Amino acid sequence: MTAPLDRKNLATNLKHVRKALPHDSAEKHVRGTATYIDDMVEPADTLHVVPGWARDAVRGRIQSIDLDEVRSVPGVVAVLTAGDIPGTNDCSSAFGDDPVLAKDEIQFYGQVVFAVVAVTREAARKAALKAKIDVSPITPILTADDAVDADTTVLPDYQFRRGSPETGMQAAEEVLSGTMYIGGQEHFYLEGQIAMAQPQEDGGMLVYSSTQHPSEIQHTVAKVLGVPDAAITAEVRRMGGGFGGKESQANQWASLAALAACRTGRTCKIRLDRDDDMIMTGKRHDFKVEWKVGHDGSGRIRAVDMEFLARCGYSVDLSLGVNDRTLFHADSSYFYPDAAIRSRRLRTDTCSNTAFRGFGGPQGMLAAERMIDAIAIRLGKDPLEIRKLNFYDGERNLTPYGMPVEEYEVMHDLISQLEESSDYWLRREEVAAFNAENAVLKKGLALTPVKFGISFTLKHLNQAGALVHLYTDGSVHLNHGGTEMGQGLYQKVAQVVAEEFGVTLNKVRITATNTSKVPNTGPTAASSGTDLNAMAARNAAREIKGRLIDFICERHQCGPSVIHFGDNKVLVGDQSFSLAEIAKHAHMARIQMSHAGYYATPGITWDRESATGRPFFYFAFGGACAEVTIDTMTGEMTVDRVDILHDVGHSLNPAIDLGQIEGGFVQGMGWLTTEELVWDDRGRLRTHAPSTYKIPTASDLPERFNVRLYDGNGNPEKTVYRSKAVGEPPLMLANAVFCAINDAVASLRPGEVPTLDAPATPEAIMKAVQDMRRRKAAR
Ligand code: MTE
Ligand code: MOS
Repeated sequence: MTAPLDRKNLATNLKHVRKALPHDSAEKHVRGTATYIDDMVEPADTLHVVPGWARDAVRGRIQSIDLDEVRSVPGVVAVLTAGDIPGTNDCSSAFGDDPVLAKDEIQFYGQVVFAVVAVTREAARKAALKAKIDVSPITPILTADDAVDADTTVLPDYQFRRGSPETGMQAAEEVLSGTMYIGGQEHFYLEGQIAMAQPQEDGGMLVYSSTQHPSEIQHTVAKVLGVPDAAITAEVRRMGGGFGGKESQANQWASLAALAACRTGRTCKIRLDRDDDMIMTGKRHDFKVEWKVGHDGSGRIRAVDMEFLARCGYSVDLSLGVNDRTLFHADSSYFYPDAAIRSRRLRTDTCSNTAFRGFGGPQGMLAAERMIDAIAIRLGKDPLEIRKLNFYDGERNLTPYGMPVEEYEVMHDLISQLEESSDYWLRREEVAAFNAENAVLKKGLALTPVKFGISFTLKHLNQAGALVHLYTDGSVHLNHGGTEMGQGLYQKVAQVVAEEFGVTLNKVRITATNTSKVPNTGPTAASSGTDLNAMAARNAAREIKGRLIDFICERHQCGPSVIHFGDNKVLVGDQSFSLAEIAKHAHMARIQMSHAGYYATPGITWDRESATGRPFFYFAFGGACAEVTIDTMTGEMTVDRVDILHDVGHSLNPAIDLGQIEGGFVQGMGWLTTEELVWDDRGRLRTHAPSTYKIPTASDLPERFNVRLYDGNGNPEKTVYRSKAVGEPPLMLANAVFCAINDAVASLRPGEVPTLDAPATPEAIMKAVQDMRRRKAAR
């Protein structure tokens, strides 16, 4: 850790970073002029691809595929099956277990078996329905419990273990245990999965894909077509949301578009229908959590034993990292002296679950909050008191995986500021008074912390590249490996580059992410897009600027200290030049004004095998206080007030960061309250459209919603302008809403721990309420 910086000094001469500027595309988003893939002008002979599947099959052997009727539909140009794939029939990130087109067996309801290529999308859609696929069914394994019984996993078990939780439990004054179900979540990106592939000369292919991971699109398409990576270029200007759902799961659609383009020699576009998208693509992992916690008389945790049973679906996908991150966050913000935190990665015959904002972390943290709530309820204490009692501090600050929580003081300070600004204790009394007076409506209150580890736990992903050109008119071309999904990454990186060159933002041309400009990139994920790409871009800009400074020193026979870049000018002593003039002169002197910058996160030493080392560069912190009212007659719930204080270090762009915090919180609230995925007992997803799957809308915002950035000393680590990542952590602020609902239900019978699972839909709340009433009656 380095000493905190003097903020006042730093802030004075910054022109572009730490400014609340709008998203670079804000106006275009509103006007509808931001170009998404479906808005791009299609070449005249573009064909449309629609995936086809066995609509009745859940799991089984494919006996026969009859596509004659599909082929005979007017407008159909080609119908492709596994046999048409020239390369490898796999679109997985790493494990080789995701067929692009199923060949011998159906592994889940919605698995793609063939692709129709037609002159219009309508013709292709119509034709896709005419397939006759004969499948001999196999009894599917659908739930976590099914998978435990059948002992099917996609990956070996894994765990963190410290001390002896067994002896710890014995030493504890009380031991509590329970089971909690935590539901999954559909990404519901507004722009669905889409790709367009254009054949190029000599077997090349240009693929436009709505993806968080262009390099993986490139590699996957190359593998599927059986051509070198260099033959394929992937490009993405922006996504209409990704949320983790386009980290690996864009691969299949890009592969199908490219396969069709390769087979027909024409541009081919695939745009999934919303229902198909929801049925075919993976979601947030749902969990069954078995927890056990031993504590002392004050509520201090002595030992925990947690088992996370994750439904991964039919293949590995990103389940390794996701489930690891669940374990990394099963402590929330609490010190567990002795701990066993175990993970089972269950294989089920369902869609392959994947990354979703928080990447498994939210599920781990929610389980921790459940334990804390249970302790508080049993002891008749306020949950916030128990939370604070168990917070990491100066002595008790090692996580179960051995990384210290160095910034525990930020966590304490943030929570106590929020405690005060939200009037927690006063409102605790008001809530109690309200509940004493009202028989039907019950209020609940909760204040919960967020501590989220920033870095990919797969070490090699913590690197990035950027390509920066300075042109002779003083304008700058900016490209990097990060992708824009609405989170404002492009703007933040542009601000950093503008700052470096001392140019106004309109001189910095933001360009689409493209694998031929910056190669071998990682996904834009783990919230580290800015940390990585802004650093790489800054390094590129610094290098170019350094060459200009050397050039000026020689030409003007001066030292670097008299040279200043700013306002599109370069001051050399008392002379002033435009940057364009300097760039022109440098060019005439044959100075290279282009550079490929690079950055790799320092200090990460995690070794998964031995479960030792440091997985995270730093932690991002936050806190939320939520007040809810439930109707114990109907299960209806309203979020009355939410106060949020969130730590983004020194914000690069407070406007964008606030947007991320509000959006992340609301998305988390949706996950925990209204978004319910329902599979029937045959394994068919029944909630595959907005008519049955309820995401939050503007009207679901809390009536009172106070969101503030934590004003601290900035990131102690050397991140770009001491900022902190913001993309995912705020989602977990929504735990406060869930805990507040639990608090409201708990008020029905003091001392009894409600059995409330997530999502806390009105139905789930009603069930928990009735369960409490039944317990009451039973006594
Ligand atoms: N914000 C918007 N508007 N749209 C998105 O798709 N994805 C989230 C988050 N915020 C997302 C978003 C997820 S899952 C991640 S990992 C980060 O943004 C990725 O971007 P970053 O690393 O630049 O923060
Ligand atoms: Mo975000 S879940 O890491 O794409």
